[in-house]
Amino acid sequence: MSVPAHQFNDQIILITGGSSGIGLASARAFIAAGAKRVYITGRSAAKLDQAREELGNKAVAIVADVANQADLNRLHNDIQVRGDKLDVLFANAGIAIRNQFGHTADNEYGNIFDTNVKGLFFTVQTLLPLLNDGASVVLNASIAASLGMANLSLYNASKAAVRSFARSWATDLKDRKIRVNAVSPGVTRTPIMENGLGMSEQDIANFSAYLAGAAPIGRMAHPDEIAAPVLFLASKAASYINGVELSVDGGLTQV
Ligand SMILES: NC(=O)c1ccc[n+]([C@@H]2O[C@H](COP(=O)([O-])OP(=O)(O)OC[C@H]3O[C@@H](n4cnc5c(N)ncnc54)[C@H](OP(=O)(O)O)[C@@H]3O)[C@@H](O)[C@H]2O)c1
Repeated sequence: MSVPAHQFNDQIILITGGSSGIGLASARAFIAAGAKRVYITGRSAAKLDQAREELGNKAVAIVADVANQADLNRLHNDIQVRGDKLDVLFANAGIAIRNQFGHTADNEYGNIFDTNVKGLFFTVQTLLPLLNDGASVVLNASIAASLGMANLSLYNASKAAVRSFARSWATDLKDRKIRVNAVSPGVTRTPIMENGLGMSEQDIANFSAYLAGAAPIGRMAHPDEIAAPVLFLASKAASYINGVELSVDGGLTQV
């Protein structure tokens, strides 16, 4: 899927978790499609600096933890001070950590839900005053939203909540003509595999081998293959698409 080169001319985009993986690939794609400015966020200043250097002067990097309301307020203020209003908000920041049901501690619950659910909820709520009427919000859910993947019950449930927000907010924001959709990536090769899930190179190779049989497309996704459908949902080409979950999983959960 390709998005016309000038589709996002003059538009201002915010991508939470834009320093790595799917968020960074999306930042690259929005800039290539003509965006005027792309704000990217994350917790690590070093990762953001590296991303900002790669993306060039259309990118603005702001350190902000979505789980921290003071950070979200500061993010809002930094964008406002520049006189910017947002045309697209890609609420993408998220973590994936295994939990063993029967032996899950309170703080494990807090980690996942504070970032993936509370963090995403308050990201969008805090930025609402800066969204233009007619803006597009894309939420990064996951195929996990509708699967019972082993030892991931907290992650699976957190993503089901994200999928649900797309339905509710499409309704809640209808007077402002703001569309809200969810993208649900399948298995995508990003640093989340090593960072949160603690997978080794061998684990990743085994997973790839499994997908070769289980997914009709027979392989993992490249982050660019998630970014393109994110741009589609955010674009005018999707002007009649609202409240949906777009599965981008090579058919894994579709067959
Ligand atoms: N990769 C997959 O297979 C897959 C599949 C389905 C859905 N997803 C979803 O896609 C999204 C992006 O994941 P990814 O695979 O691209 O992983 P990634 O490469 O690890 O990227 C995650 C990004 O989110 C940021 N982040 C994490 N926690 C944050 C917080 N509390 N506040 C602000 N930023 C935060 C990270 O930066 P810092 O660490 O510096 O904060 C990073 O920029 C996640 O929501 C994930 O659940 C991924």
